[in-house]
Amino acid sequence: MSLEIITNPNPILRQKAKKIKDPIDPALLSLVEAMKKTLESSKSGIGLAAPQVGQSIRLCVVERDGAYEALINPKIISRSKKNSLFEEGCLSFPGLFYAIERPEKVKVRYLNEKGEKVTIKAEGILARLLQHEVDHLDGKLFIDYLKK
Ligand code: CO
Repeated sequence: MSLEIITNPNPILRQKAKKIKDPIDPALLSLVEAMKKTLESSKSGIGLAAPQVGQSIRLCVVERDGAYEALINPKIISRSKKNSLFEEGCLSFPGLFYAIERPEKVKVRYLNEKGEKVTIKAEGILARLLQHEVDHLDGKLFIDYLKK
């Protein structure tokens, strides 16, 4: 079953999401499955954060190497000094794409669906995607990077 994706403006998209205490809670796993299905059926999307489906918790789902993966309590632990500029979209802003400048590489720590601690080094599209999704958990949206 696909979930309804919340679009801008909606106050939940601006909330700081709560940390997940039990990463192997069955209710959390069923939300993860529903978010993966929602992302898959969105066609254009490669990432979805829980606040975008009305759950203000620190969880996101991303497409990585052709599979969907959940990140629980993700945290960016380092960012490269070098930035890159690339066109970004967001499922909460249908049809809008903007060139956004972000660090080129990041290191991210999170818990996977089994509750295991994982640290990954990401660059390119994945680095951008992870920064975009972690921003969602802090109530930050890609339009915030546009120069006023
Ligand atoms: Co987004």
